[in-house]
Amino acid sequence: MASSSSLSSLLVTTAFLLAWLLPGCDGQLSTTFYSSTCSNLTSIVSGVLEQARSSDERILASLVRLHFHDCFVLGCDASILLDNSDSIESEKDAGPNADSVRGFDVVDDIKTAVESVCPDVVSCADILALAAQISVSLAGGPSYSVPLGRRDGTTVNRSAANSALPSPFEDLTSIQSKFSEHNLSDTDLVALSGAHTFGRSQCFAFDNRLYDFDGDGNPDPTLNTTYLARLRKSCPEDGSSTTLIDFDLTTPNAFDNKYFTNLQTNKGLLLSDQELFSTGGASTVSIVNSFASSQCTFFESFAASMIKMGNISPLTGTDGEIRSNCRVVNGS
Ligand code: HEM
Ligand SMILES: *[C@@H]1O[C@H](CO)[C@@H](O)[C@H](O)[C@H]1NC(C)=O
Ligand SMILES: *[C@@H]1O[C@H](CO)[C@@H](O)[C@H](O)[C@H]1NC(C)=O
Ligand SMILES: *[C@@H]1O[C@H](CO)[C@@H](O)[C@H](O)[C@H]1NC(C)=O
Ligand SMILES: *[C@@H]1O[C@H](CO)[C@@H](O)[C@H](O)[C@H]1NC(C)=O
Repeated sequence: MASSSSLSSLLVTTAFLLAWLLPGCDGQLSTTFYSSTCSNLTSIVSGVLEQARSSDERILASLVRLHFHDCFVLGCDASILLDNSDSIESEKDAGPNADSVRGFDVVDDIKTAVESVCPDVVSCADILALAAQISVSLAGGPSYSVPLGRRDGTTVNRSAANSALPSPFEDLTSIQSKFSEHNLSDTDLVALSGAHTFGRSQCFAFDNRLYDFDGDGNPDPTLNTTYLARLRKSCPEDGSSTTLIDFDLTTPNAFDNKYFTNLQTNKGLLLSDQELFSTGGASTVSIVNSFASSQCTFFESFAASMIKMGNISPLTGTDGEIRSNCRVVNGS
């Protein structure tokens, strides 16, 4: 009797200890995951981002994109951060990423700062999720509590990076299906596309709309003619296709709902942007209109959708690892 009751109290104690030592071991992310192991995490990341932004205003947008491109390939596991090696065919060289995604040096700076205060506990995948949230907030967007507790993957999948990430030339139906693969709805698609309220695109991602969109020498008819003229100047037919153009011509570095009012006046930069509003009968049209008429509605939806996207197949508990260097698998 006595031994069975002390056994059960030992079991209860062990269960409590495990629950305390391994927060999130049930596979759920938690906004308080690092509250005892790295209580300063948010201020450390914010500090590095404010510093980076002082010399590169675009970095905030770049980091939001990096989290998206991570989550759509093998889930939010920091696979996008791994460099080429004997065993790794880096996702950085996949079509949607090559010479396009950026911010890796700043992620390294964040990791170094975090390791110096809380060594070996914070994953690179969580750094991406947190950096995205803080970036949105620093640019004037919504603040939300990011669920944390992801662990880092030990593999990559370049061909999945080529096939799962949406292309700017793709039609709406095809983009919708890439989002629904991850259980992301039309509302999620429209809200998350609102990240194109800041940051830049190279000319090559949309210049097919400017000159010979239909094969008969005409531009994309859904492009505002005033905006068309402006874009033709910035991206001349014989010019460099890597010139950077602001996604949002009115408030290029602010996170606001201007992206949606731009779509309403046919000033979406990418075909994939304008399609959300200009595809006749599409369910996305009324969502664009509601975000255009209320920044508050957009901000609430954006935060909810970022949390949903950040929940794509995280590694938790004892799966994966906490990388020491975000660019390499431990021990390799
Ligand atoms: C819906 C389908 C999407 C397509 C087709 C798309 C495509 C693109 C393209 C082509 C660029 C420019 C890349 C370059 O010129 O190098 C870009 C940039 C960007 N994308 Fe998307 N994107 C999509 C959705 C998203 C989502 C869901 C997010 C985040 C939640 C996002 C965030 C960004 C940001 C912030 C930039 C600017 C990055 C910078 O300035 O460094 N995009 N996207
Ligand atoms: C960490 O937090 C403590 C107290 O909360 C504060 O004094 C210290 O400056 C913080 N360190 C960093 C790097 O933010
Ligand atoms: C990589 O992704 C592709 C495309 O989604 C898939 O067919 C393939 O099975 C994946 N490879 C591995 C090793 O998971
Ligand atoms: C998407 O939702 C369905 C139904 O709720 C569920 O069965 C499936 O596992 C989910 N898929 C992902 C990737 O979360
Ligand atoms: C094009 O943009 C102008 C403002 O720059 C706006 O007044 C006009 O309504 C837009 N045209 C269309 C067809 O959306």
